[in-house]
Amino acid sequence: MNRLRIAVTKGRLLEDSLDLFEKMGLDCTEVRADTRKLILPITNYPMDVVLSKAADVLTYVSHGVCDLGIVGKDTIMEHGGSFYEMLDLGFGKCRFALAVPKGSDFYGGYRDRVLASKYPNVTKAYFAGKGMDVSVIKIEGSVELAPILGLADGIVDIVETGTTLKENGLAVIEEFKNISARLICNKTSFKFKNKDIRRIVKALKTPAEY
Ligand code: PRP
Repeated sequence: MNRLRIAVTKGRLLEDSLDLFEKMGLDCTEVRADTRKLILPITNYPMDVVLSKAADVLTYVSHGVCDLGIVGKDTIMEHGGSFYEMLDLGFGKCRFALAVPKGSDFYGGYRDRVLASKYPNVTKAYFAGKGMDVSVIKIEGSVELAPILGLADGIVDIVETGTTLKENGLAVIEEFKNISARLICNKTSFKFKNKDIRRIVKALKTPAEY
């Protein structure tokens, strides 16, 4: 059997990903060991876990240096890439939302609107769908700061509990897409390691049976 490589998004998706692997019977001891190592073996199955930032998961899988990846639909929508989206893993659930300073009238008047987002492509596409031309400013970190600082009229971001928005005086005015973690697969790997990939996909779908 070929040794598989799976890129897993660090941060909020990692814990749920490892829980799922363990439900399948995979030994994640090495992955959970608190080290600075970035490629970690599953000790009882021929698979290595590559810890990556979300957008890099897409890059590694698109280029075929990782066979599989676990990444949020938000990142897939923003960056795209050449891979198969195999499964909705059902965790990492959140929504894309448009949020504005509480009480502000985002759609009122005729001024140009400025939106701040970590997801400029998603933001542009969303407003293009409404036939609205808006300016989008890309923010790398906590996008909630942009309207507070007076840089933008609103933000497009992922919202899970809504706590971050609330604590920063912002409110959702539109939600437009449910997000969750997805399993993606390199196209060549799918062809040449088909049996091994199918086995993993089946196990991820029904972990308790493995
Ligand atoms: C996301 C998002 C919000 C927050 C929303 O950031 O950009 O800031 O989570 O979550 P909530 O609705 O539960 O408050 P994340 O924590 O992923 O960190 P990041 O800024 O590193 O992307």
